[in-house]
Amino acid sequence: MEPGFKKYIPFKQIELKNREWPSKVITKAPIWCSVDLRDGNQALVDPMNMKEKLEYFKVLCDLGFKEIEVGFPSASQTEYDICRELIEGNHIPDDVWIQVLVQARPHLIKKTFEAIRGAKNVIIHFYNSTSTVQRKVVFRMDKPGIVNIAVEGAKLIRQLTEEQCEPGQNIRFEYSPESFSGTETDFAIEICEAVLDQLGATKENPVVLNLPNTVEMCTANTFADQVEYFIKNIKGRERAIISVHPHNDRGTGVACAELALLAGADRIEGTLFGNGERTGNLDIVTTGLNMYTQGVDPQLDFSNLPKLRDMFERCTKMHIGERHPYSGELVFTAFSGSHQDAINKGLQFAEESHAKYWEIPYLPIDPADVGRQYEPIIRINSQSGKGGAAFILHHKFGFIVPKEMQAEIGTIVKDKCDELGREIKDEELYELFDKNYISVEQKYKLIKHRFVEHSDEGENKVEFTGIISCDGRQYNVESVGNGPIDAFFNAIKKLEIANYKFVSYHEHALATGSDSKAVAYITLEDNVTGEKIFGVGIENNINFASVKGVLCAINRAVKN
Ligand code: KIV
Ligand code: ZN
Repeated sequence: MEPGFKKYIPFKQIELKNREWPSKVITKAPIWCSVDLRDGNQALVDPMNMKEKLEYFKVLCDLGFKEIEVGFPSASQTEYDICRELIEGNHIPDDVWIQVLVQARPHLIKKTFEAIRGAKNVIIHFYNSTSTVQRKVVFRMDKPGIVNIAVEGAKLIRQLTEEQCEPGQNIRFEYSPESFSGTETDFAIEICEAVLDQLGATKENPVVLNLPNTVEMCTANTFADQVEYFIKNIKGRERAIISVHPHNDRGTGVACAELALLAGADRIEGTLFGNGERTGNLDIVTTGLNMYTQGVDPQLDFSNLPKLRDMFERCTKMHIGERHPYSGELVFTAFSGSHQDAINKGLQFAEESHAKYWEIPYLPIDPADVGRQYEPIIRINSQSGKGGAAFILHHKFGFIVPKEMQAEIGTIVKDKCDELGREIKDEELYELFDKNYISVEQKYKLIKHRFVEHSDEGENKVEFTGIISCDGRQYNVESVGNGPIDAFFNAIKKLEIANYKFVSYHEHALATGSDSKAVAYITLEDNVTGEKIFGVGIENNINFASVKGVLCAINRAVKN
């Protein structure tokens, strides 16, 4: 064998003139078929037990799946029993079709018919391998031999359906040329046409032709070419529902499914979160939500992904990666400062402009649409900027910190992260904010105070009187100003702490309701150094909150 990469044969492109799929768009949901309980289950270290499969089946029905492959009932007693329990235990809603997989082999087909007794809606899915490599190394059979397996299987299935189909029972057929993408497309067409003929497929009773990308071997555009070529060349396309069944060996299962839809496929088989053999099956959650974010209703309900993920992880004992599209723990989290800032601004803009459409930088989907919350969107580590801390303080704790203060808070947070060498939690952020701006050591303390408002011929004046303590001494202060802050500021000018200029003031209520508190953010400037000093005051009364804010700023300044 050749060494290294030289031992691999590049995939041969297929001849498709005037391909149409590149200029198409996805405008509607396909028919979805979940193969979680078969392809997904067979790939688990510990396959699901009866209880888990029943729970999983119910969840699939609740999500909106109308076609669910429940197993391979002729393969083992366990698989047979689950099929029987679903039917006999009345677990299958009237509008749901169960699908059962079987190889095109007579004894297995017969056993499958026993397994589906009493089921209202059944898709019998049979398959045989058709790829060049399987024909060469596994079956050592020529093309007519392979066609014969499929046709004989189809013949027996049709015969057993005619003999055994019960009144009120609906049976449909699905055929898969397994490893379709590794099969010469003309040969796949030939075998599928023979199967359609044998099953008596018509426009009124179409047969599902499922084209598995059993092992991904080429780029998604080539798979799309294969599908478009197949659809354009098969005789009697109208008597078939074209389905695709991508796997994910090259990590492009979703791309293959999407391009196959552009190429004309009607139906998609896959699993939740892409569980399945090797690198998995197509991830239906990602594919569906990709449609959702393009304004297309996927017809599946993914509004509570955390709950779905819990069920999935519990039943399959698999883990969904932190970066898994839409469902991973970290996918709505921005660590980078500039991203945090942009998200923050985007959300603010959307709120202010009553936006009709979702246009938030770095968030392709509204986390709320999949049952996620805003809280974990932004997490704080040493990469984060001022926007992240401001976002958490606002959305989690209700503090709308003014822009001019954000940079200082950002630096305090960054330093703390560097010191700890890790991300800080929201509560730790609040503690930092509290320590630095609220529970500040009070060298100067307001012991007593009174504001009196005067209005004289339209001119408003506020008179402030109070006692301020400093290092065990008390000072009586009083003055008048055109507002409470001005009055207080004039009053303290008489103390030796008068080295500051008032710069700006912001305030808002901290919570709604009659007992809500007010918060005031004060910016002062040191008369000598020009340095900005910030303070925060929280009180029931907004005048008092601002006075506390001014004192807080001064106390912070004298401490430094
Ligand atoms: O991946 C595959 O080819 C399959 C078939 C049995 C449909 O799972
Ligand atoms: Zn498969």
